[in-house]
Amino acid sequence: MHQLTCVADYEKKCQSLIEKSALDYFKSGSGEEETLKRNKDAFKKLRIRPRVLINVSKVNLNVEIFGSKLEWPVGVSPTAMQKMAHPDGEVASARAAGKAGSLFILSSLSTTSLEEVAEKAPDTIKWFHSHLFKDREMTENLVIRAEKAGYKAIVFTVDQPVFGIRKTCDFKLPSHLSLANLVCIESENNNISDTSSGIANHSLEIFNASITWKDVEWFTQFTKLPVLLKGVLTREDAILALNHGVKGIIVSNHGGRQFDGVPSSIEVLPEIVEAVGKDMFVAFDSGVYQGVDAFKALALGAKLVLLGRAVLWGLGVDGQKGVEDILAIVKNELNVSMSLAGCTEVNKIGNKTVVHENYFSTCK
Ligand SMILES: Cc1cc2nc3c(=O)[nH]c(=O)nc-3n(C[C@H](O)[C@H](O)[C@H](O)COP(=O)(O)O)c2cc1C
Repeated sequence: MHQLTCVADYEKKCQSLIEKSALDYFKSGSGEEETLKRNKDAFKKLRIRPRVLINVSKVNLNVEIFGSKLEWPVGVSPTAMQKMAHPDGEVASARAAGKAGSLFILSSLSTTSLEEVAEKAPDTIKWFHSHLFKDREMTENLVIRAEKAGYKAIVFTVDQPVFGIRKTCDFKLPSHLSLANLVCIESENNNISDTSSGIANHSLEIFNASITWKDVEWFTQFTKLPVLLKGVLTREDAILALNHGVKGIIVSNHGGRQFDGVPSSIEVLPEIVEAVGKDMFVAFDSGVYQGVDAFKALALGAKLVLLGRAVLWGLGVDGQKGVEDILAIVKNELNVSMSLAGCTEVNKIGNKTVVHENYFSTCK
């Protein structure tokens, strides 16, 4: 077999291995997929200004986040229904993240229950993701279960009051799988597997289009864990988040899956870091496929970078081993990027290290 050396190799390989409907679900973006494409293109418009003659024989990638020590500042974004990529699903990804000294965020729409993931990946640092579902009691219950099972933070997704428009996502959750955390509502509204656009219909049943900042306050009150908002794309909302008691935000456009037309996450990162980066933890995702992308996001002020689809490609190719390989590849690429840029510590990646390509035309 041709050796797989980068995330793109895994993506290509994965396409021949998993069901087309699952592949479409993983790959798809919303609308014309312009934002999806922009997520990658925007990284290519950033240039690195490397510093030389710095001793980089030891590069330290370690970071500490909300009291947890990570071997490097990259983790796994919450992605739903991972058993569609591989039968070992979320457990495989969580174990791989732990082995890589990384962190794993479990989607509330997972095909493995949060308790099973906790039991089978006990050594992994885990955060739990939740929507604010229509059923508040269920939402509260999920968060309490996660707290009890040892998850260290709650990621509250705020960019999905309704499901974005996706043309190429027309799949049925195979009948042997279930949304393991939500089995009770699923059995009441069992339409996820029996309509052609099951996921969108199901989401309409459970997502809550009426959520506001008041709900954020409600959310932060019933858990002792740090709460992060995922899906913030403007400085205005970042400031509101700060004023509503959340401990962090994830600058994310949901991997281009929600609102086609919004900017890439990397385009908006600097304005958000400038507005709140000193007072609040800022994480980042969308469009990260190489260690050098993670390096650019760190340089622009992210404290943690998350991988979405990249992990799914590894999972689809070879389960836990595939995710371990993806994480090892990205970690090595980040290490090499730091060495070549002259950065020996994550917090020494200065914001002048990465500039927009226009920087060079305007300085002539
Ligand atoms: C198949 C798939 C399922 C996802 N499920 C969720 C989810 O349940 N909750 C959530 O907040 N984000 C979800 N996301 C978005 C990811 O958390 C993340 O924001 C996105 O994948 C990052 O972009 P990237 O794939 O380019 O790395 C999902 C993304 C994908 C690709």
